[in-house]
Amino acid sequence: MKSNPLGSDVLKRRAVALIFQRHSTRTRVSFETGIVELGGHPMILRTEDTQLARGESIRDTAYVLSRNAAAIGIRTGPDELVRELAQYATVPVVNMLTADHHPCQALADLLTLKENFGELDGLKLAYVGDGNNVARSLAIVGALAGVEIAIAAPDGYQLEPVAGAELTADPYEAVKNANAVYTDVWVSMNDSPETAAARSEALHPYQLNDELLAAAAPGAIALHCLPAHPGDEITEQVLYGERQRIWDQAENRRHGQKALLELLCA
Ligand code: CP
Ligand code: NVA
Repeated sequence: MKSNPLGSDVLKRRAVALIFQRHSTRTRVSFETGIVELGGHPMILRTEDTQLARGESIRDTAYVLSRNAAAIGIRTGPDELVRELAQYATVPVVNMLTADHHPCQALADLLTLKENFGELDGLKLAYVGDGNNVARSLAIVGALAGVEIAIAAPDGYQLEPVAGAELTADPYEAVKNANAVYTDVWVSMNDSPETAAARSEALHPYQLNDELLAAAAPGAIALHCLPAHPGDEITEQVLYGERQRIWDQAENRRHGQKALLELLCA
């Protein structure tokens, strides 16, 4: 998909419905552009514009969207809502981020690793910071691809045991021999803004900075799903430095999702 962006017209004259119940920059523009490149039409549905906002059920929405679209993407809070949509839809449903998962991001991250290192199998990725949706999806998707995942987070912010990921409170232990060091925001869209001060205090020792990156494997790259908060979870030096592949990662959202849509809709 990346080397031949217009090589597939799997969605020719078909629409994909994209439901946004949360903010987005990358997910929206990458899906929207990718669907156009596949010959299709992205139907952007902001909840407040639909009858969902006036109480129409997910079940009825799933029935109607399935009669019009080749696939449905949804960004929301609860996973149950995605599961309910998938239960009643007769077309594929894609999770575009929930409080607990962000699988499309993890796809782009694998592509970014593959571009940099050639093979995925045997690589190690260390995630430092909040044990959130992005960390969980990396653990799950990483395990499927043979990438060792270590997650460093403080007490109260660590993931449950998931997909064999190595869980530690020590960021330096996590980054040891890591080929990539990854971080994400300290306050996610589904977190209460009132927790921001406590999160900032607990997560500050987990900042992705030059010192931490230097403790990883030689040639390690820095990753962040974005949006970034320079000075908090990542320093400006790393975000714009030589070892980041963060802007490639953002672009790779489009290529990974196009491959997913081709797989689902062909
Ligand atoms: N990384 C990511 O999903 O970005 P957006 O929230 O801007 O879509
Ligand atoms: N963990 C972040 C990811 C944003 C792309 C959030 O859920 O807000």
